[in-house]
Amino acid sequence: MTKRVRSSKSKLVREDQAPYGKTEPLKFIDLFCGIGGFRYAFERAGASCVFSSDWDKYSQVTYAANFGEKPHGDIHAVAVADVPKHDILCGGFPCQPFSLAGVSKKNSLGRKHGFDDEKQGNLFFSIADIIDYHKPAAFVLENVKNLKSHDKGRTFQVIYDTLTKALGYQVHTKIIDARNVVPQHRERIFLVGFREPRYFEFPEFPKTEPKLSSILESNVPDKYTLTDHLWAYLQAYAKKHQEAGNGFGFGLVTGDSTTRTLSARYHKDGSEILISQGPRKNPRRLTPRECARLMGYPENFKITVSDTQAYRQFGNSVVVPVVERIAHQVIKTLKAPVGEAPEFALQLAEDKKKDEAARRNTPLVVTKKSKYPTR
Ligand SMILES: C[S@@+](CC[C@H](N)C(=O)[O-])C[C@H]1O[C@@H](n2cnc3c(N)ncnc32)[C@H](O)[C@@H]1O
Repeated sequence: MTKRVRSSKSKLVREDQAPYGKTEPLKFIDLFCGIGGFRYAFERAGASCVFSSDWDKYSQVTYAANFGEKPHGDIHAVAVADVPKHDILCGGFPCQPFSLAGVSKKNSLGRKHGFDDEKQGNLFFSIADIIDYHKPAAFVLENVKNLKSHDKGRTFQVIYDTLTKALGYQVHTKIIDARNVVPQHRERIFLVGFREPRYFEFPEFPKTEPKLSSILESNVPDKYTLTDHLWAYLQAYAKKHQEAGNGFGFGLVTGDSTTRTLSARYHKDGSEILISQGPRKNPRRLTPRECARLMGYPENFKITVSDTQAYRQFGNSVVVPVVERIAHQVIKTLKAPVGEAPEFALQLAEDKKKDEAARRNTPLVVTKKSKYPTR
């Protein structure tokens, strides 16, 4: 039976409404964990990981090297009841069936995509099953930006309706570009859901844009410089497409730039991000360590796999400082009593009021009253 307790502000809150009042760290699970981008972020925000899963053996090697445990394998082989109880479910579920590249490639092969893709498409439903069984207080899901437009919006609608109507969560979505925290243009959609109606705001990001020079290594081995053959091929390929009016081509950058999005295919030719080495030398690829920095991983992050695997892993990853900011907001939200705006929300409301008052040039009145979000 649900027990009712009195909160510090003399409001009745249900004890099973979870994390509010908890003194121990909130528990999260790391689904489709890859190399642990979510894990780094949520641990830094003070939460503790109780379960991880990814079936890729090379990602498991990197994850084990950095977090001391090997993730469980295929999520389909894990019974939902065997997933430990948790407060927050995290998952950057595979984007291949929803990404433009994945979709067009599959279409051109005459294959199905999205939810019709039997092997990949229903992975979202393995997340939904875990949410349904464990009813975590919150979840944070991540995917490529075009999840929203995939299949004329129907894919997103199924996901959104499942999370809201079928599972009863209050869901907030936002497309975030990582370029304000790392020198990379990388837009991803985040879906943050709460079991109870709670006040939640996505984090603010700095207005500044870090430059590529801040992550470049100084002594880069020659093997990262493009061969004459590959460089000639990439230039010819870009020229052909330019003449045909297409935007395809390589992304040549200097230390002042922000790069294009690092993809899991970077190991193939590195064409989306090529570092200029001046007119007398062919450009070079990023090193795996530079990729780690471009995704916001700390310097002590261990890279123990081949370059090919490392490029694939970083290209699939989340940008750690983006997720870390979201993690902080989610945790603050969960630590506030249900129905009360946490400090950051009050601060945001005050800031908004100040801005508005400054604009109107009227005397400033700030009240400290919280509001529930309404949908
Ligand atoms: C987009 S990546 C997520 C990367 C992760 N967020 C990170 O920061 O590194 C998707 C991951 O899902 C994993 N995956 C795909 N199908 C799976 C399955 N059936 N069970 C477990 N993991 C799976 C892939 O191996 C891949 O690492």
